[in-house]
Amino acid sequence: MMLEKIKEIQEEVEKFSVDTKEQLENFRLSFLSRNGKVSALFDDFKQVAGDQKRAVGQELNKLKKLAEERFSTWQSSLENTTQDQKSRLDLSLPVVPFTLGSRHPITLVRERIIQIFERMGFSVSEGPEIEDDWHNFSALNFPPDHPAREMQDTFFIEKNPDITLRTHTSSVQVRVMETTKPPIRTLSPGRVFRNEAISARAHCVFHQVEGMYIDKNVSFADLKNTLYHFVKEMFGKDTKIRFRPSFFPFTEPSAEIDISCIICKGKGCRICKQSGWVEIGGAGMMHPNVLENSKIDSSVYSGFAFGMGLERMSMLKYQINDLRLFTENDVRFLRQFTAAE
Ligand code: PHE
Repeated sequence: MMLEKIKEIQEEVEKFSVDTKEQLENFRLSFLSRNGKVSALFDDFKQVAGDQKRAVGQELNKLKKLAEERFSTWQSSLENTTQDQKSRLDLSLPVVPFTLGSRHPITLVRERIIQIFERMGFSVSEGPEIEDDWHNFSALNFPPDHPAREMQDTFFIEKNPDITLRTHTSSVQVRVMETTKPPIRTLSPGRVFRNEAISARAHCVFHQVEGMYIDKNVSFADLKNTLYHFVKEMFGKDTKIRFRPSFFPFTEPSAEIDISCIICKGKGCRICKQSGWVEIGGAGMMHPNVLENSKIDSSVYSGFAFGMGLERMSMLKYQINDLRLFTENDVRFLRQFTAAE
């Protein structure tokens, strides 16, 4: 009687087919769970007479083993199929399109400038954007009452001792001189900050590149010739350069650097305000006080320094007429730039 029942259920197990997870669960519920058919047989087994227990027990265990084996075979094959389906690649599907980025015009101009000066032996150095008074002003020979220190020009983070957002990259000159012995030839590109209202021609955050050359017998002729070579490489061989006398506390003599307007070729246009010339930066011979402040003997060494605006050069190079375009992140603007040359 009991043996027949076992056989019947064994046939049921053998006939059962499983293709989905749901069917597998049905199988488990019908046969293997606590209320399933196999468990029920084990309950009945308690009533089996002592002399038959051995034979019936063997069959019952065989059935249980069979059901469990089938269950685990189906289970692992179902898991494998879902894995396979996931990793199967359909190469006939169209690709997901993605757009390649392009470099920002400020980056392109900065890289081009570095490239030109690297060929003249200049290294690249960097300094912090948050500066102390010493590196941004005092070591550069700014007197304590210089107007650039006033609130309307400089973003002060702390007063006494003064901590500011650097107003120019000249602070890096000081940092390099503190840690390097001459001869020094270095270029320091970076972000600078001034408290100015944002317009087409001004921004409170902009970029400069500082240059500094210190050695024995460096003269104003070296400064002129270096910048002369630079503007021809950067803006084309017909570009003219001129120096206008100027003043900076950290250079003596000092000059503004102008180049002939590359838009109208010096004839006069809106960009150069009909003058034929546009300013790209300031320069001069390093003031002896600045060298001495960084423990460089000014009776042995001399040097020149210059600082140029990256936005200004980029605007000239690419004929961009509004400074705000650089920070608006409009891809229709940014996509247009591929290389500086
Ligand atoms: N730091 C000056 C400025 O921001 C530019 C400059 C640099 C001038 C080096 C002379 C020498 O206007």
